[in-house]
Amino acid sequence: MKLSNRLFEIASLVTKNKRIADIGTDHGYIPAYLLKNNYIEYAILADINKGPLENAKKEIEYNNLQDKVSLRLGSGLEILQVNEVDEVIIAGMGGVLISEILEKRKNVAKSLEKLILQPMQSQEELRKYLLNNGYEIIEEKLVNEDFRIYEIIVAKYTGKNTILEDDIYYEVSKKLIENKDILLKEFLDKKINSYNTTLSKINNNNSEKLKEKIDNISLKIDKLIKIKNSI
Ligand SMILES: C[S@@+](CC[C@H](N)C(=O)[O-])C[C@H]1O[C@@H](n2cnc3c(N)ncnc32)[C@H](O)[C@@H]1O
Repeated sequence: MKLSNRLFEIASLVTKNKRIADIGTDHGYIPAYLLKNNYIEYAILADINKGPLENAKKEIEYNNLQDKVSLRLGSGLEILQVNEVDEVIIAGMGGVLISEILEKRKNVAKSLEKLILQPMQSQEELRKYLLNNGYEIIEEKLVNEDFRIYEIIVAKYTGKNTILEDDIYYEVSKKLIENKDILLKEFLDKKINSYNTTLSKINNNNSEKLKEKIDNISLKIDKLIKIKNSI
């Protein structure tokens, strides 16, 4: 069984022998891989939709792992009790949805030793939610798959909020800079290019609102270039 780059990097952030829940599991590949390789002994696979949970069930049965899992139909962390698992994976969803899932079952989210989160978009909003709601970002990783760079955020509740000295660090995590992530330069280039494309598309008329937008994007580009030059 071979995982894609994105799923492999997420799986590699799980701690050996911990009990995990994979929320929004769909195909169930991550828990199946970890169980099959005896890296963990127990997993809860959950999804809000029947079809995806059925996919996960088939994957578990195919690998003969039925004794080591619990399959649950339901939304977010609502299917979990406090202390049922040690670590949770929430991957392949939007950052806002992930933060809503954490917010809805705060007692469960706060009790976890590790939250492995992989937002597909709104990564900035998710970091804001985490850092303003008592979570510490303990690790971050970039992963390349199909010409796209995915962001993986590992967090843990500590009760302490973190104030960042500049909003740009919600977009480009300090952990990635500290760790000199191998994909950081490419990630920054993609962001700079994307903001430049937006700038070139904005019709430069005299509207005050557009002027403000252009200034904001230009400032972001400057900050991103500065980070790029510092690494
Ligand atoms: C794009 S798939 C991601 C599958 C897998 N986690 C991955 O990263 O490849 C998103 C899955 O999340 C499920 N989902 C969406 N909202 C959810 C929620 N509130 N609670 C649990 N699962 C949810 C969907 O049904 C779908 O199976």
